[in-house]
Amino acid sequence: MNLTLKIWRQKDANSKGKTVEYPISGVDPDMSFLEMLDVLNEDLITKGEEPVEFDHDCREGICGTCSLQINGEPHGPDRGVTTCQLHMRKFKDGDTIHIEPFRATAFPVIKDLIVDRSSFERIQQAGGFISVNTSGNTIDANSIPVEKEKADASFNAATCIGCGACVAACKNASAMLFTSAKVSQFALLPQGKVEATDRVLNMVKQMDEEGFGNCSNTGACEIECPKGISLENIARMNREYLSASLKK
Ligand code: SF4
Ligand code: FES
Repeated sequence: MNLTLKIWRQKDANSKGKTVEYPISGVDPDMSFLEMLDVLNEDLITKGEEPVEFDHDCREGICGTCSLQINGEPHGPDRGVTTCQLHMRKFKDGDTIHIEPFRATAFPVIKDLIVDRSSFERIQQAGGFISVNTSGNTIDANSIPVEKEKADASFNAATCIGCGACVAACKNASAMLFTSAKVSQFALLPQGKVEATDRVLNMVKQMDEEGFGNCSNTGACEIECPKGISLENIARMNREYLSASLKK
């Protein structure tokens, strides 16, 4: 396949970026999107040019770092996959592909296609944990009964990999889907009830302070989420938030 790549290049956080065009040939349809970028970078390095910086780690849909806006869609045209799981067979020979970083005030660009998503870390730190007494009288986890339906819903929420596609897909750059997944995975379990009130209030407060927008129910986040995190989590977080506000 021969393709034209239009890639966002930005030297650093303080520089103005611009789109640069790169023709690329000999792309195998079975390559992953990141492998295609590796080929481009090898070519750029051979020519003495600076390679395109992009985030990646596991390359198997687990770590959530490979966040690219491809032809206007977070993680590209496929559904239920991350950028590292996207294959070039999803494109046609002769295509022009626009590649940008995720755009949001709370995700400032560090360089080229890499954004700073530490705002997500701070939301997690504000309440995405439980406290367990480990002083010798810890209760065996299996001795606490958990309804199967709730355990499944909690596990589904816990599959969020913190990639940020929900934010990039949202016209308000809202982080409600991410935050609600992190709230829900604990809210559904008995182990998460102890700190439930503070958790939801603190995490939502942090989300707002980071500069993420509000939810206006378009559902774009759910469509673009590579892990199929459901909008039901946002409804659950709203209920948790209301009930916590009334208790405070
Ligand atoms: S909710 Fe989905 S899109 Fe958002 S951070 Fe989690 S995995 Fe990524
Ligand atoms: S590189 Fe880890 S999810 Fe893509």
